[in-house]
Amino acid sequence: AQSAKESLYIVSQYAATFFVKQLWETDEGRGIGLSYFKERGFREDILKKFEVGYSPDVWDAMTQSATNAGHKLEFLEATGLSIKNDNGKIYDRFRGRVMFPIHNFTGRIIGFGGRTLKTDKNVPKYVNSPESEIYHKSNVLYGLFHAKKAIRDLDNCYLAEGYADVLSVHQAGIENVVASSGTSLTVEQIKLIGRFTQNITILFDGDAAGIKASLRGLDMILEEGLNVKIVSFPDGHDPDSYMHHVGAGAFKTYLEQNRKDFILYKANVLLKDAGNDPIKRAGIIRDIVESIAKIPDPIKASVFIRECSSLLEIEEHILLSELNKMRSAKL
Ligand code: CTP
Ligand code: MN
Ligand code: MN
Ligand code: MN
Ligand code: MN
Repeated sequence: AQSAKESLYIVSQYAATFFVKQLWETDEGRGIGLSYFKERGFREDILKKFEVGYSPDVWDAMTQSATNAGHKLEFLEATGLSIKNDNGKIYDRFRGRVMFPIHNFTGRIIGFGGRTLKTDKNVPKYVNSPESEIYHKSNVLYGLFHAKKAIRDLDNCYLAEGYADVLSVHQAGIENVVASSGTSLTVEQIKLIGRFTQNITILFDGDAAGIKASLRGLDMILEEGLNVKIVSFPDGHDPDSYMHHVGAGAFKTYLEQNRKDFILYKANVLLKDAGNDPIKRAGIIRDIVESIAKIPDPIKASVFIRECSSLLEIEEHILLSELNKMRSAKL
């Protein structure tokens, strides 16, 4: 007999195949799901590559199909695909949503994100699989299975927020991209990228939340000893919307020309609010040195101190003594 864990993989793959069939081969799927993706500008080859699907807007279509095919409810429930309510009635977790299957980095399906097609603000935009024996959200990067070869070859990993971002960046011909899937980035996710490259380029959304997440993310990446750059997007845009807005060619150029190292990025973000106020400026300089102090390699850190010194026009020895104070405070 196969292990329980293996059974969870199998029902997850069954569900993914079911959702794909619904998207491409049913009137509801084509009329609602596929046309939604097309209106957003996604190409068919990208939709197929990422095995996106559609979950019908009825109570238990997936559960019925799976149990009819001989899959045990026990395993469907264990993945969170099927839910039993207080009255013992079974229903599908995902209904009337476009479906993004989540692969682990060996390519097996371990969970799903389902996006609503409604504009109603009371409906959650995304419903995701719960934690299960095969799905541990904090250890997973969406898209890694499809990106890992390119990440290794190009020795860089683009890190976005969401499912649609990964698809759109791929559609622009850039395959070394993954998403943290909205969860605030975790150390496990950074270590996972570190198995393929030491270089991460953050592509978070160009809103307040995305900027906050970039500042937090870059410190975590530095602390893990990896190199980090950041590309920011005009307010209101994320990589997905911006790619469709400017087109694939211009998007690629944008990434190449707007990649900033973390010092320049922090200086840009923080100095915007400080103006010429000397006290605020001093605070910002400390803030930047604080990030440099997270870099484990002292030689790398000293290179960034030099850059910071010339960029902010502060003498290097002052920054160095600040750095040393912070380092000894950490010990
Ligand atoms: N997310 C989530 N649950 C939510 C909101 C977001 O799990 N209620 C995750 C999803 O993985 C989503 C990512 O966080 O892709 C980024 O969120 P957001 O920027 O709000 O969504 P987009 O990915 O931009 O979604 P879309 O373009 O489809 O509107
Ligand atoms: Mn697959
Ligand atoms: Mn966002
Ligand atoms: Mn977004
Ligand atoms: Mn988006």
